This record gives sequence, structure tokens and C-alpha cells, in this order.
Amino acid sequence: MPAAPPAAPDTTTDVVLVVDFGAQYAQLIARRVREARVYSEIVPSTMPVAEMLARNPRAIILSGGPSSVYAEGAPTLDRALFEAGVPVFGMCYGFQLMATMLGGTVDDNGAREYGRTPLSVSKAGSTLFEGTPTEQPVWMSHGDACSAAPEGFTVTASTDVVPVAAFENDEKKLYGVQYHPEVMHSTHGQQVLEHFLYRGAGIEPTWTTTNVVEEQIALIREQVGTKRAICGLSGGVDSAVAAALVQKAIGSQLTCVYVDHGLMRKGETEQVEKDFVAATGVKLRVVDAEKRFLDALAGVSDPEQKRKIIGREFIRVFEQAQAEIIAEVAGGEDVAFLVQGTLYPDVVESGGGTGTANIKSHHNVGGLPEDIEFQLVEPLRQLFKDEVRMVGQELGLPEEIVQRQPFPGPGLGIRIVGEVTKERLDLLRDADAIAREELTAAGLDRDIWQCPVVLLADVRSVGVQGDGRTYGHPVVLRPVSSEDAMTADWSRLPYETLAKISTRITNEVADVNRVVLDVTSKPPGTIEWE
Ligand code: XMP
Repeated sequence: MPAAPPAAPDTTTDVVLVVDFGAQYAQLIARRVREARVYSEIVPSTMPVAEMLARNPRAIILSGGPSSVYAEGAPTLDRALFEAGVPVFGMCYGFQLMATMLGGTVDDNGAREYGRTPLSVSKAGSTLFEGTPTEQPVWMSHGDACSAAPEGFTVTASTDVVPVAAFENDEKKLYGVQYHPEVMHSTHGQQVLEHFLYRGAGIEPTWTTTNVVEEQIALIREQVGTKRAICGLSGGVDSAVAAALVQKAIGSQLTCVYVDHGLMRKGETEQVEKDFVAATGVKLRVVDAEKRFLDALAGVSDPEQKRKIIGREFIRVFEQAQAEIIAEVAGGEDVAFLVQGTLYPDVVESGGGTGTANIKSHHNVGGLPEDIEFQLVEPLRQLFKDEVRMVGQELGLPEEIVQRQPFPGPGLGIRIVGEVTKERLDLLRDADAIAREELTAAGLDRDIWQCPVVLLADVRSVGVQGDGRTYGHPVVLRPVSSEDAMTADWSRLPYETLAKISTRITNEVADVNRVVLDVTSKPPGTIEWE
């Protein structure tokens, strides 16, 4: 059994730190920096400045945050940050914080701006604004406003109500803008951010997903050595890409496990069994546990109870498979590593850190230790979802897996409102496959975040088909657009596509006589129905 494992190795060389002041913007900023091909990480504003500087950042970005720097308990920073010679770019709250800490004036002059606002650039060739229009729309969200820049700073942009909407100090490499360059409504925001990175901070745009693949392969080899690893495949993008990376690094030392719980959509199990294995050469153990799951779910309609049952059965089946692998494949030798497709947003949301490298697996198979300790291999811990897709593409994974939309772990089990049975699952699989086919045919896959198809199994309504009266179930289409699934809006799909999906489902899926469209945003609705 392995002793206390080391945390996943820290890989970063050229890093830009995004200091998170507690709003929702930091992740978006970090993504935009990476889109500029510069590696970035988010750190909490409570991190001591000495610790930030110890990372040797090439630049630091201060994110947006609460509305007033004067509010009680408003987060702040040690001003040593501005004296360390590291280029700094403040945005919105970060900008106001810079302004006040460096001797400028920020006050509540009643000049509130929310949403799209025209910005006037007063110094066209400046470091931040060169090559951008003198009038450009920007996204604002602030109450207080900066009325005087700190000494040594040049004011480079303003709005009708804010005299200082951007300032720059090339000598000290300190820059700031009142608006949010990271949101797409700021039409030249990405260009301004890139100007800061390349011109202001002098960073070369060299970070790519190819580097990530090479770097991670080396790190995985270093971490795992000659030991064995296992990985649970869910059919989703994250576990598939994590497994493919680890496979590339350590080959047959890895065994993958796929638990077929019978709640997958049409064709997905085959995709994993055939296409994924063909593309990666991974050693795969498929456990057909459909009957076990359906037996456990029989008679259960309550969504929370369904989730609990699916989760519990999943762990049991997976652990059984682990035990078998230890006994058969590894010849009794420890399987020391568990591969997981943890993504960067999960890391940030669970408080950052360098990784909980240790988990325990309990099982009760004769002859094996009660608890097995695994070290985690999490090669995607630094990546956002879109980057994971790029890595997957680079590794040659099938397009259907790489571009797959999010799908809940409990699968179709939570898309049947009512009891889950084999017949209902088959019916829902057919309806879902039609919706997916038509969305793909209409070229809409990239326009939507996901489109759950939900079976209202406990509802029946009267219809007419051919010469006969029907008494069938409705299915709900729930197409949504979203950036992160925390909030979502219903997608305005073309009527022709909706009509085609509806006609096909009611014609081709027996027992479904109505197709309805969910036009609720999140909040107040959730994405899944359950
Ligand atoms: P809700 O319904 O909460 O869903 O708006 C938000 C996003 O999360 C997905 N989802 C899950 N994903 N395991 C998962 O891996 C789950 O148990 C689960 N439940 C919901 C959902 O599809 C949507 O993208």
C-alpha cells in the first residue's frame, strides 16, 4: 500500500495570476488569458502577496468584484504588489483598488453604469488601446467612479460619466480599466487584454494544448513510474480525455472500467466500447450492470432517492471491478493510482489548492485489504472544458466523444419523471436520439449547451393518430444555452428544427403523442427536470 503520496506536481513556468475578488469574473478572465495563449491561474485575494510573488508570475490581473472599494469588509491587497516590478492589470474593482491604493480618487459621484457603454479612447497609440477604435462599446458594472488617476499614470479612456475609465503607467507597467474586457460585449476587450500581456508585460504567446499534452505525459510518467493505474470511464469528455492522456503516458499499466448502468443514451456504450478503445488502445473492462441498477430502481419515483440508489450501486460495481483488476490483471500487485477527470473550475470552486492526492476505497471482497488507498492522477486539473476538448482532439479521440454535451452521471435515470423502467428508458432513448440527430443535422450542436429530452412518465394525455385515439406520454425538449451551467437560458431554436423533431418523435416513438418545449431560464428552473 502506498505511503502518503506527494501532491500532483506543479507544472507552471510562465504564469499569469488572476486575483479573484469574489465575483464571477475571475474564471472568465483566466480563460481569456489562455485564449491569448498565455497560461493563467486563479488565486484568492486573501493569498499573501509574498506567496503570489513566490510563484514568479509574469503578470498579475486583478479581477472585478464587489461594487465599492469603500464597503465594509471589501477585499484589499498589500500594496507591495504594485512595487514588485511585476506588471499588473486591474479590471473594474481591481482598477478602483489600484486607483485608491496608488493615490488616485474614487468616489460615488452618482455615475452608475451597468451594461453596454460607449468608451472614448483619448490616447490612440497607448499600450492598451493601440489599433482599436477611438469609440468602442464596453461592458460596465460599477457604482463608484475614478475621478483622478494616481500620479505618474496617463488617462487613456473615458465615458460620458466617468472621467477616468482607463489609465496606464508604462514605466511601472501598471494598467487598469474600469470596464470588463473579458466579456464579449466589450468588443475589443480581448485585444486590450492581449495588448497588456504582449506589449505591457512582454509575454510571448506560446502556451498551447500541445504543450499541455507533452507536459502532462511527462508528469504522469514521473508520478506513476512503473506502478498501475485504473480509471473509471463515464462516456463523458473529461474521463475520456484523462484516460487517453494517461494511456499515452503509461500504456498498459492503465486499466479502464466502464460501468454500463443501462441509463446511457443510444449508442453511447458502443462509443466507449468500440470507438474509444480503437482510438486509444486502452485496456477496458466493461461491467454490464443494467439489471442490477434497474432492480434497485424498481418502484422508486423520488428524484433524490433515485440519485442515491444510482450513486450507491455505481460505487459498489466500480469497487468490485477494482478488486477484480487487482486480483487478475495486476496479479495481486497494488493498483496505486486512480485517474480522475477533475477540471480546473472544480479545483477553483473547491478552494484551489494543489490537490487532495489521496482517497480511500472501501470494499469487502475476500482476500483483499479492507481499505485501498489510491493516489489521484488528475491530468486535467489545470484545464477548462474547452481546453479539455482541444486536448482530446489532439489525442485523436472520436469527434462524438470530444464534442459531447454535458450529460449527468445518473444518466437518463433523472430524465424520466416517475419510475425508471427498461421500457421507459428505451422509449426515451429513441426520442433523445431523434432530437440529437436533428440538432446535429441542423448544425446547432455548438449553439447550445445541451438539450435534455425528458419523459413525463407519470403524465398521459389524449391524442389522435391515424384513425385512433391515443393516450400517450409527453416528452419535453429542454435546449439551453449557458457558459457554465450555473445559469442558463432556453435556446431559441429555429421553428423548423423543432417541428421536425416533434413530427419525427410522435411518428416514430410509440406511446409518445406530444412534444413540448421548456421555455424557462435557470434560475428559476434547473436544466434537468428530475
Ligand atoms: P441542473 O439540473 O442542476 O444541472 O441545472 C446543471 C448541469 O449539471 C448537469 N448535472 C449533472 N452532472 N452528475 C453530473 O455529472 C449529476 O448528478 C448531475 N446532475 C446535473 C446537468 O446535465 C447540467 O449540465
